Amino acid sequence: MFEIFEIIAGLILKASWLMLPAYLANPTAVVFGGGTPIDLGKNWRDGRRIFGDGKTFRGLIGGTACGVIIGLIQMQVTSLQYLGTFTFLSIFMLSFGALIGDMTKSFFKRRLGYERGAEFPLVDQLDFVAGAWILTYAFDPVWFSKNFLALPWIMVTVVLFTPLLHRLTNIIGYYAGLKKEPW
Ligand code: CTP
Ligand code: MG
Repeated sequence: MFEIFEIIAGLILKASWLMLPAYLANPTAVVFGGGTPIDLGKNWRDGRRIFGDGKTFRGLIGGTACGVIIGLIQMQVTSLQYLGTFTFLSIFMLSFGALIGDMTKSFFKRRLGYERGAEFPLVDQLDFVAGAWILTYAFDPVWFSKNFLALPWIMVTVVLFTPLLHRLTNIIGYYAGLKKEPW
């Protein structure tokens, strides 16, 4: 019985370690966000905004920078290397990819007529995982294969655990006055 909990705790620990740059990029984009939107206020051909005011240069750059910084710190913490080691490319792609995933989601939200901030269940919670994985796989396939593809249970853990974590951080962000909606 307790072995099961130990296995799950171990999976969550390793999954969180490997995803930490992506996990940090997303909320720090909210903290640093504001100012000029990435779509420069322009509309797509359907007359709606390309991404909307919720995707800004400051958020993209600030979030990517924070993800990279935590990744660089993780690379120095020798006692935790057993959980996984990073490459420079992997930490950049995990962070930047997370925000590209979030932006891609906003693009499709606008095309579907969702206003900025409207809830898009599950997609809002996993967009950045998809972005982080796709970009990391595309630019550092060796790292991605070794750390995720070779460990399918870690990938399953990320997909199941991330929505819970996302929900929790967004509720905190909402009550801290950083986010307009608790999702
Ligand atoms: N943010 C930002 N730049 C980014 C991502 C996020 O400035 N690249 C900031 C914005 O202030 C945004 C907030 O973080 O309003 C919350 O992010 P998110 O929930 O992803 O955006 P929404 O405003 O909900 O917009 P959307 O409907 O497009 O998801
Ligand atoms: Mg939102």
